[in-house]
Amino acid sequence: RLEKIWLTFGIAMLAVFLAVLGIGAFAMGMEPPGSHGTHAVDPVTVSSEPPFDTPGLVQIGENEYNAYVLAFAFGFSPVDMEVPRGARVHFYITSQDVVHGFSIPRTTVNLMAVPGEINHMTYTFDKPGEYLVLCNEYCGISHEQMATRIVVK
Ligand code: CUA
Repeated sequence: RLEKIWLTFGIAMLAVFLAVLGIGAFAMGMEPPGSHGTHAVDPVTVSSEPPFDTPGLVQIGENEYNAYVLAFAFGFSPVDMEVPRGARVHFYITSQDVVHGFSIPRTTVNLMAVPGEINHMTYTFDKPGEYLVLCNEYCGISHEQMATRIVVK
């Protein structure tokens, strides 16, 4: 009879353990906005599957956008993006080949574009103007030419 009690206890502990694991995994899937989140992706197929098959801006709210950007040697897709002043932009960045950078001087946006990962960051463009986006990770002979623009109207 004692064995039965211990067996029940063991099963109960296992259930608690699994529940904690499940809650942990769920919590990790939810990130506060503005955080540096990372998700796994296949760099070989990333450019042929949504959302990166059509990189660029997707409006998700009133002046709020998701920006899906593919980095590759040696450029970014899309080439230019335009958003209204005050736009809140959630950047999702990945690379098709080697490690690149996605850095917007004068802002806090500074992400690594890593093959196999989607890096995430949120920024609100309060000031109008032309924002240059640069690759700040050395990625090969044309690294210096790797740039795109975000125009805030
Ligand atoms: Cu891409 Cu440097």
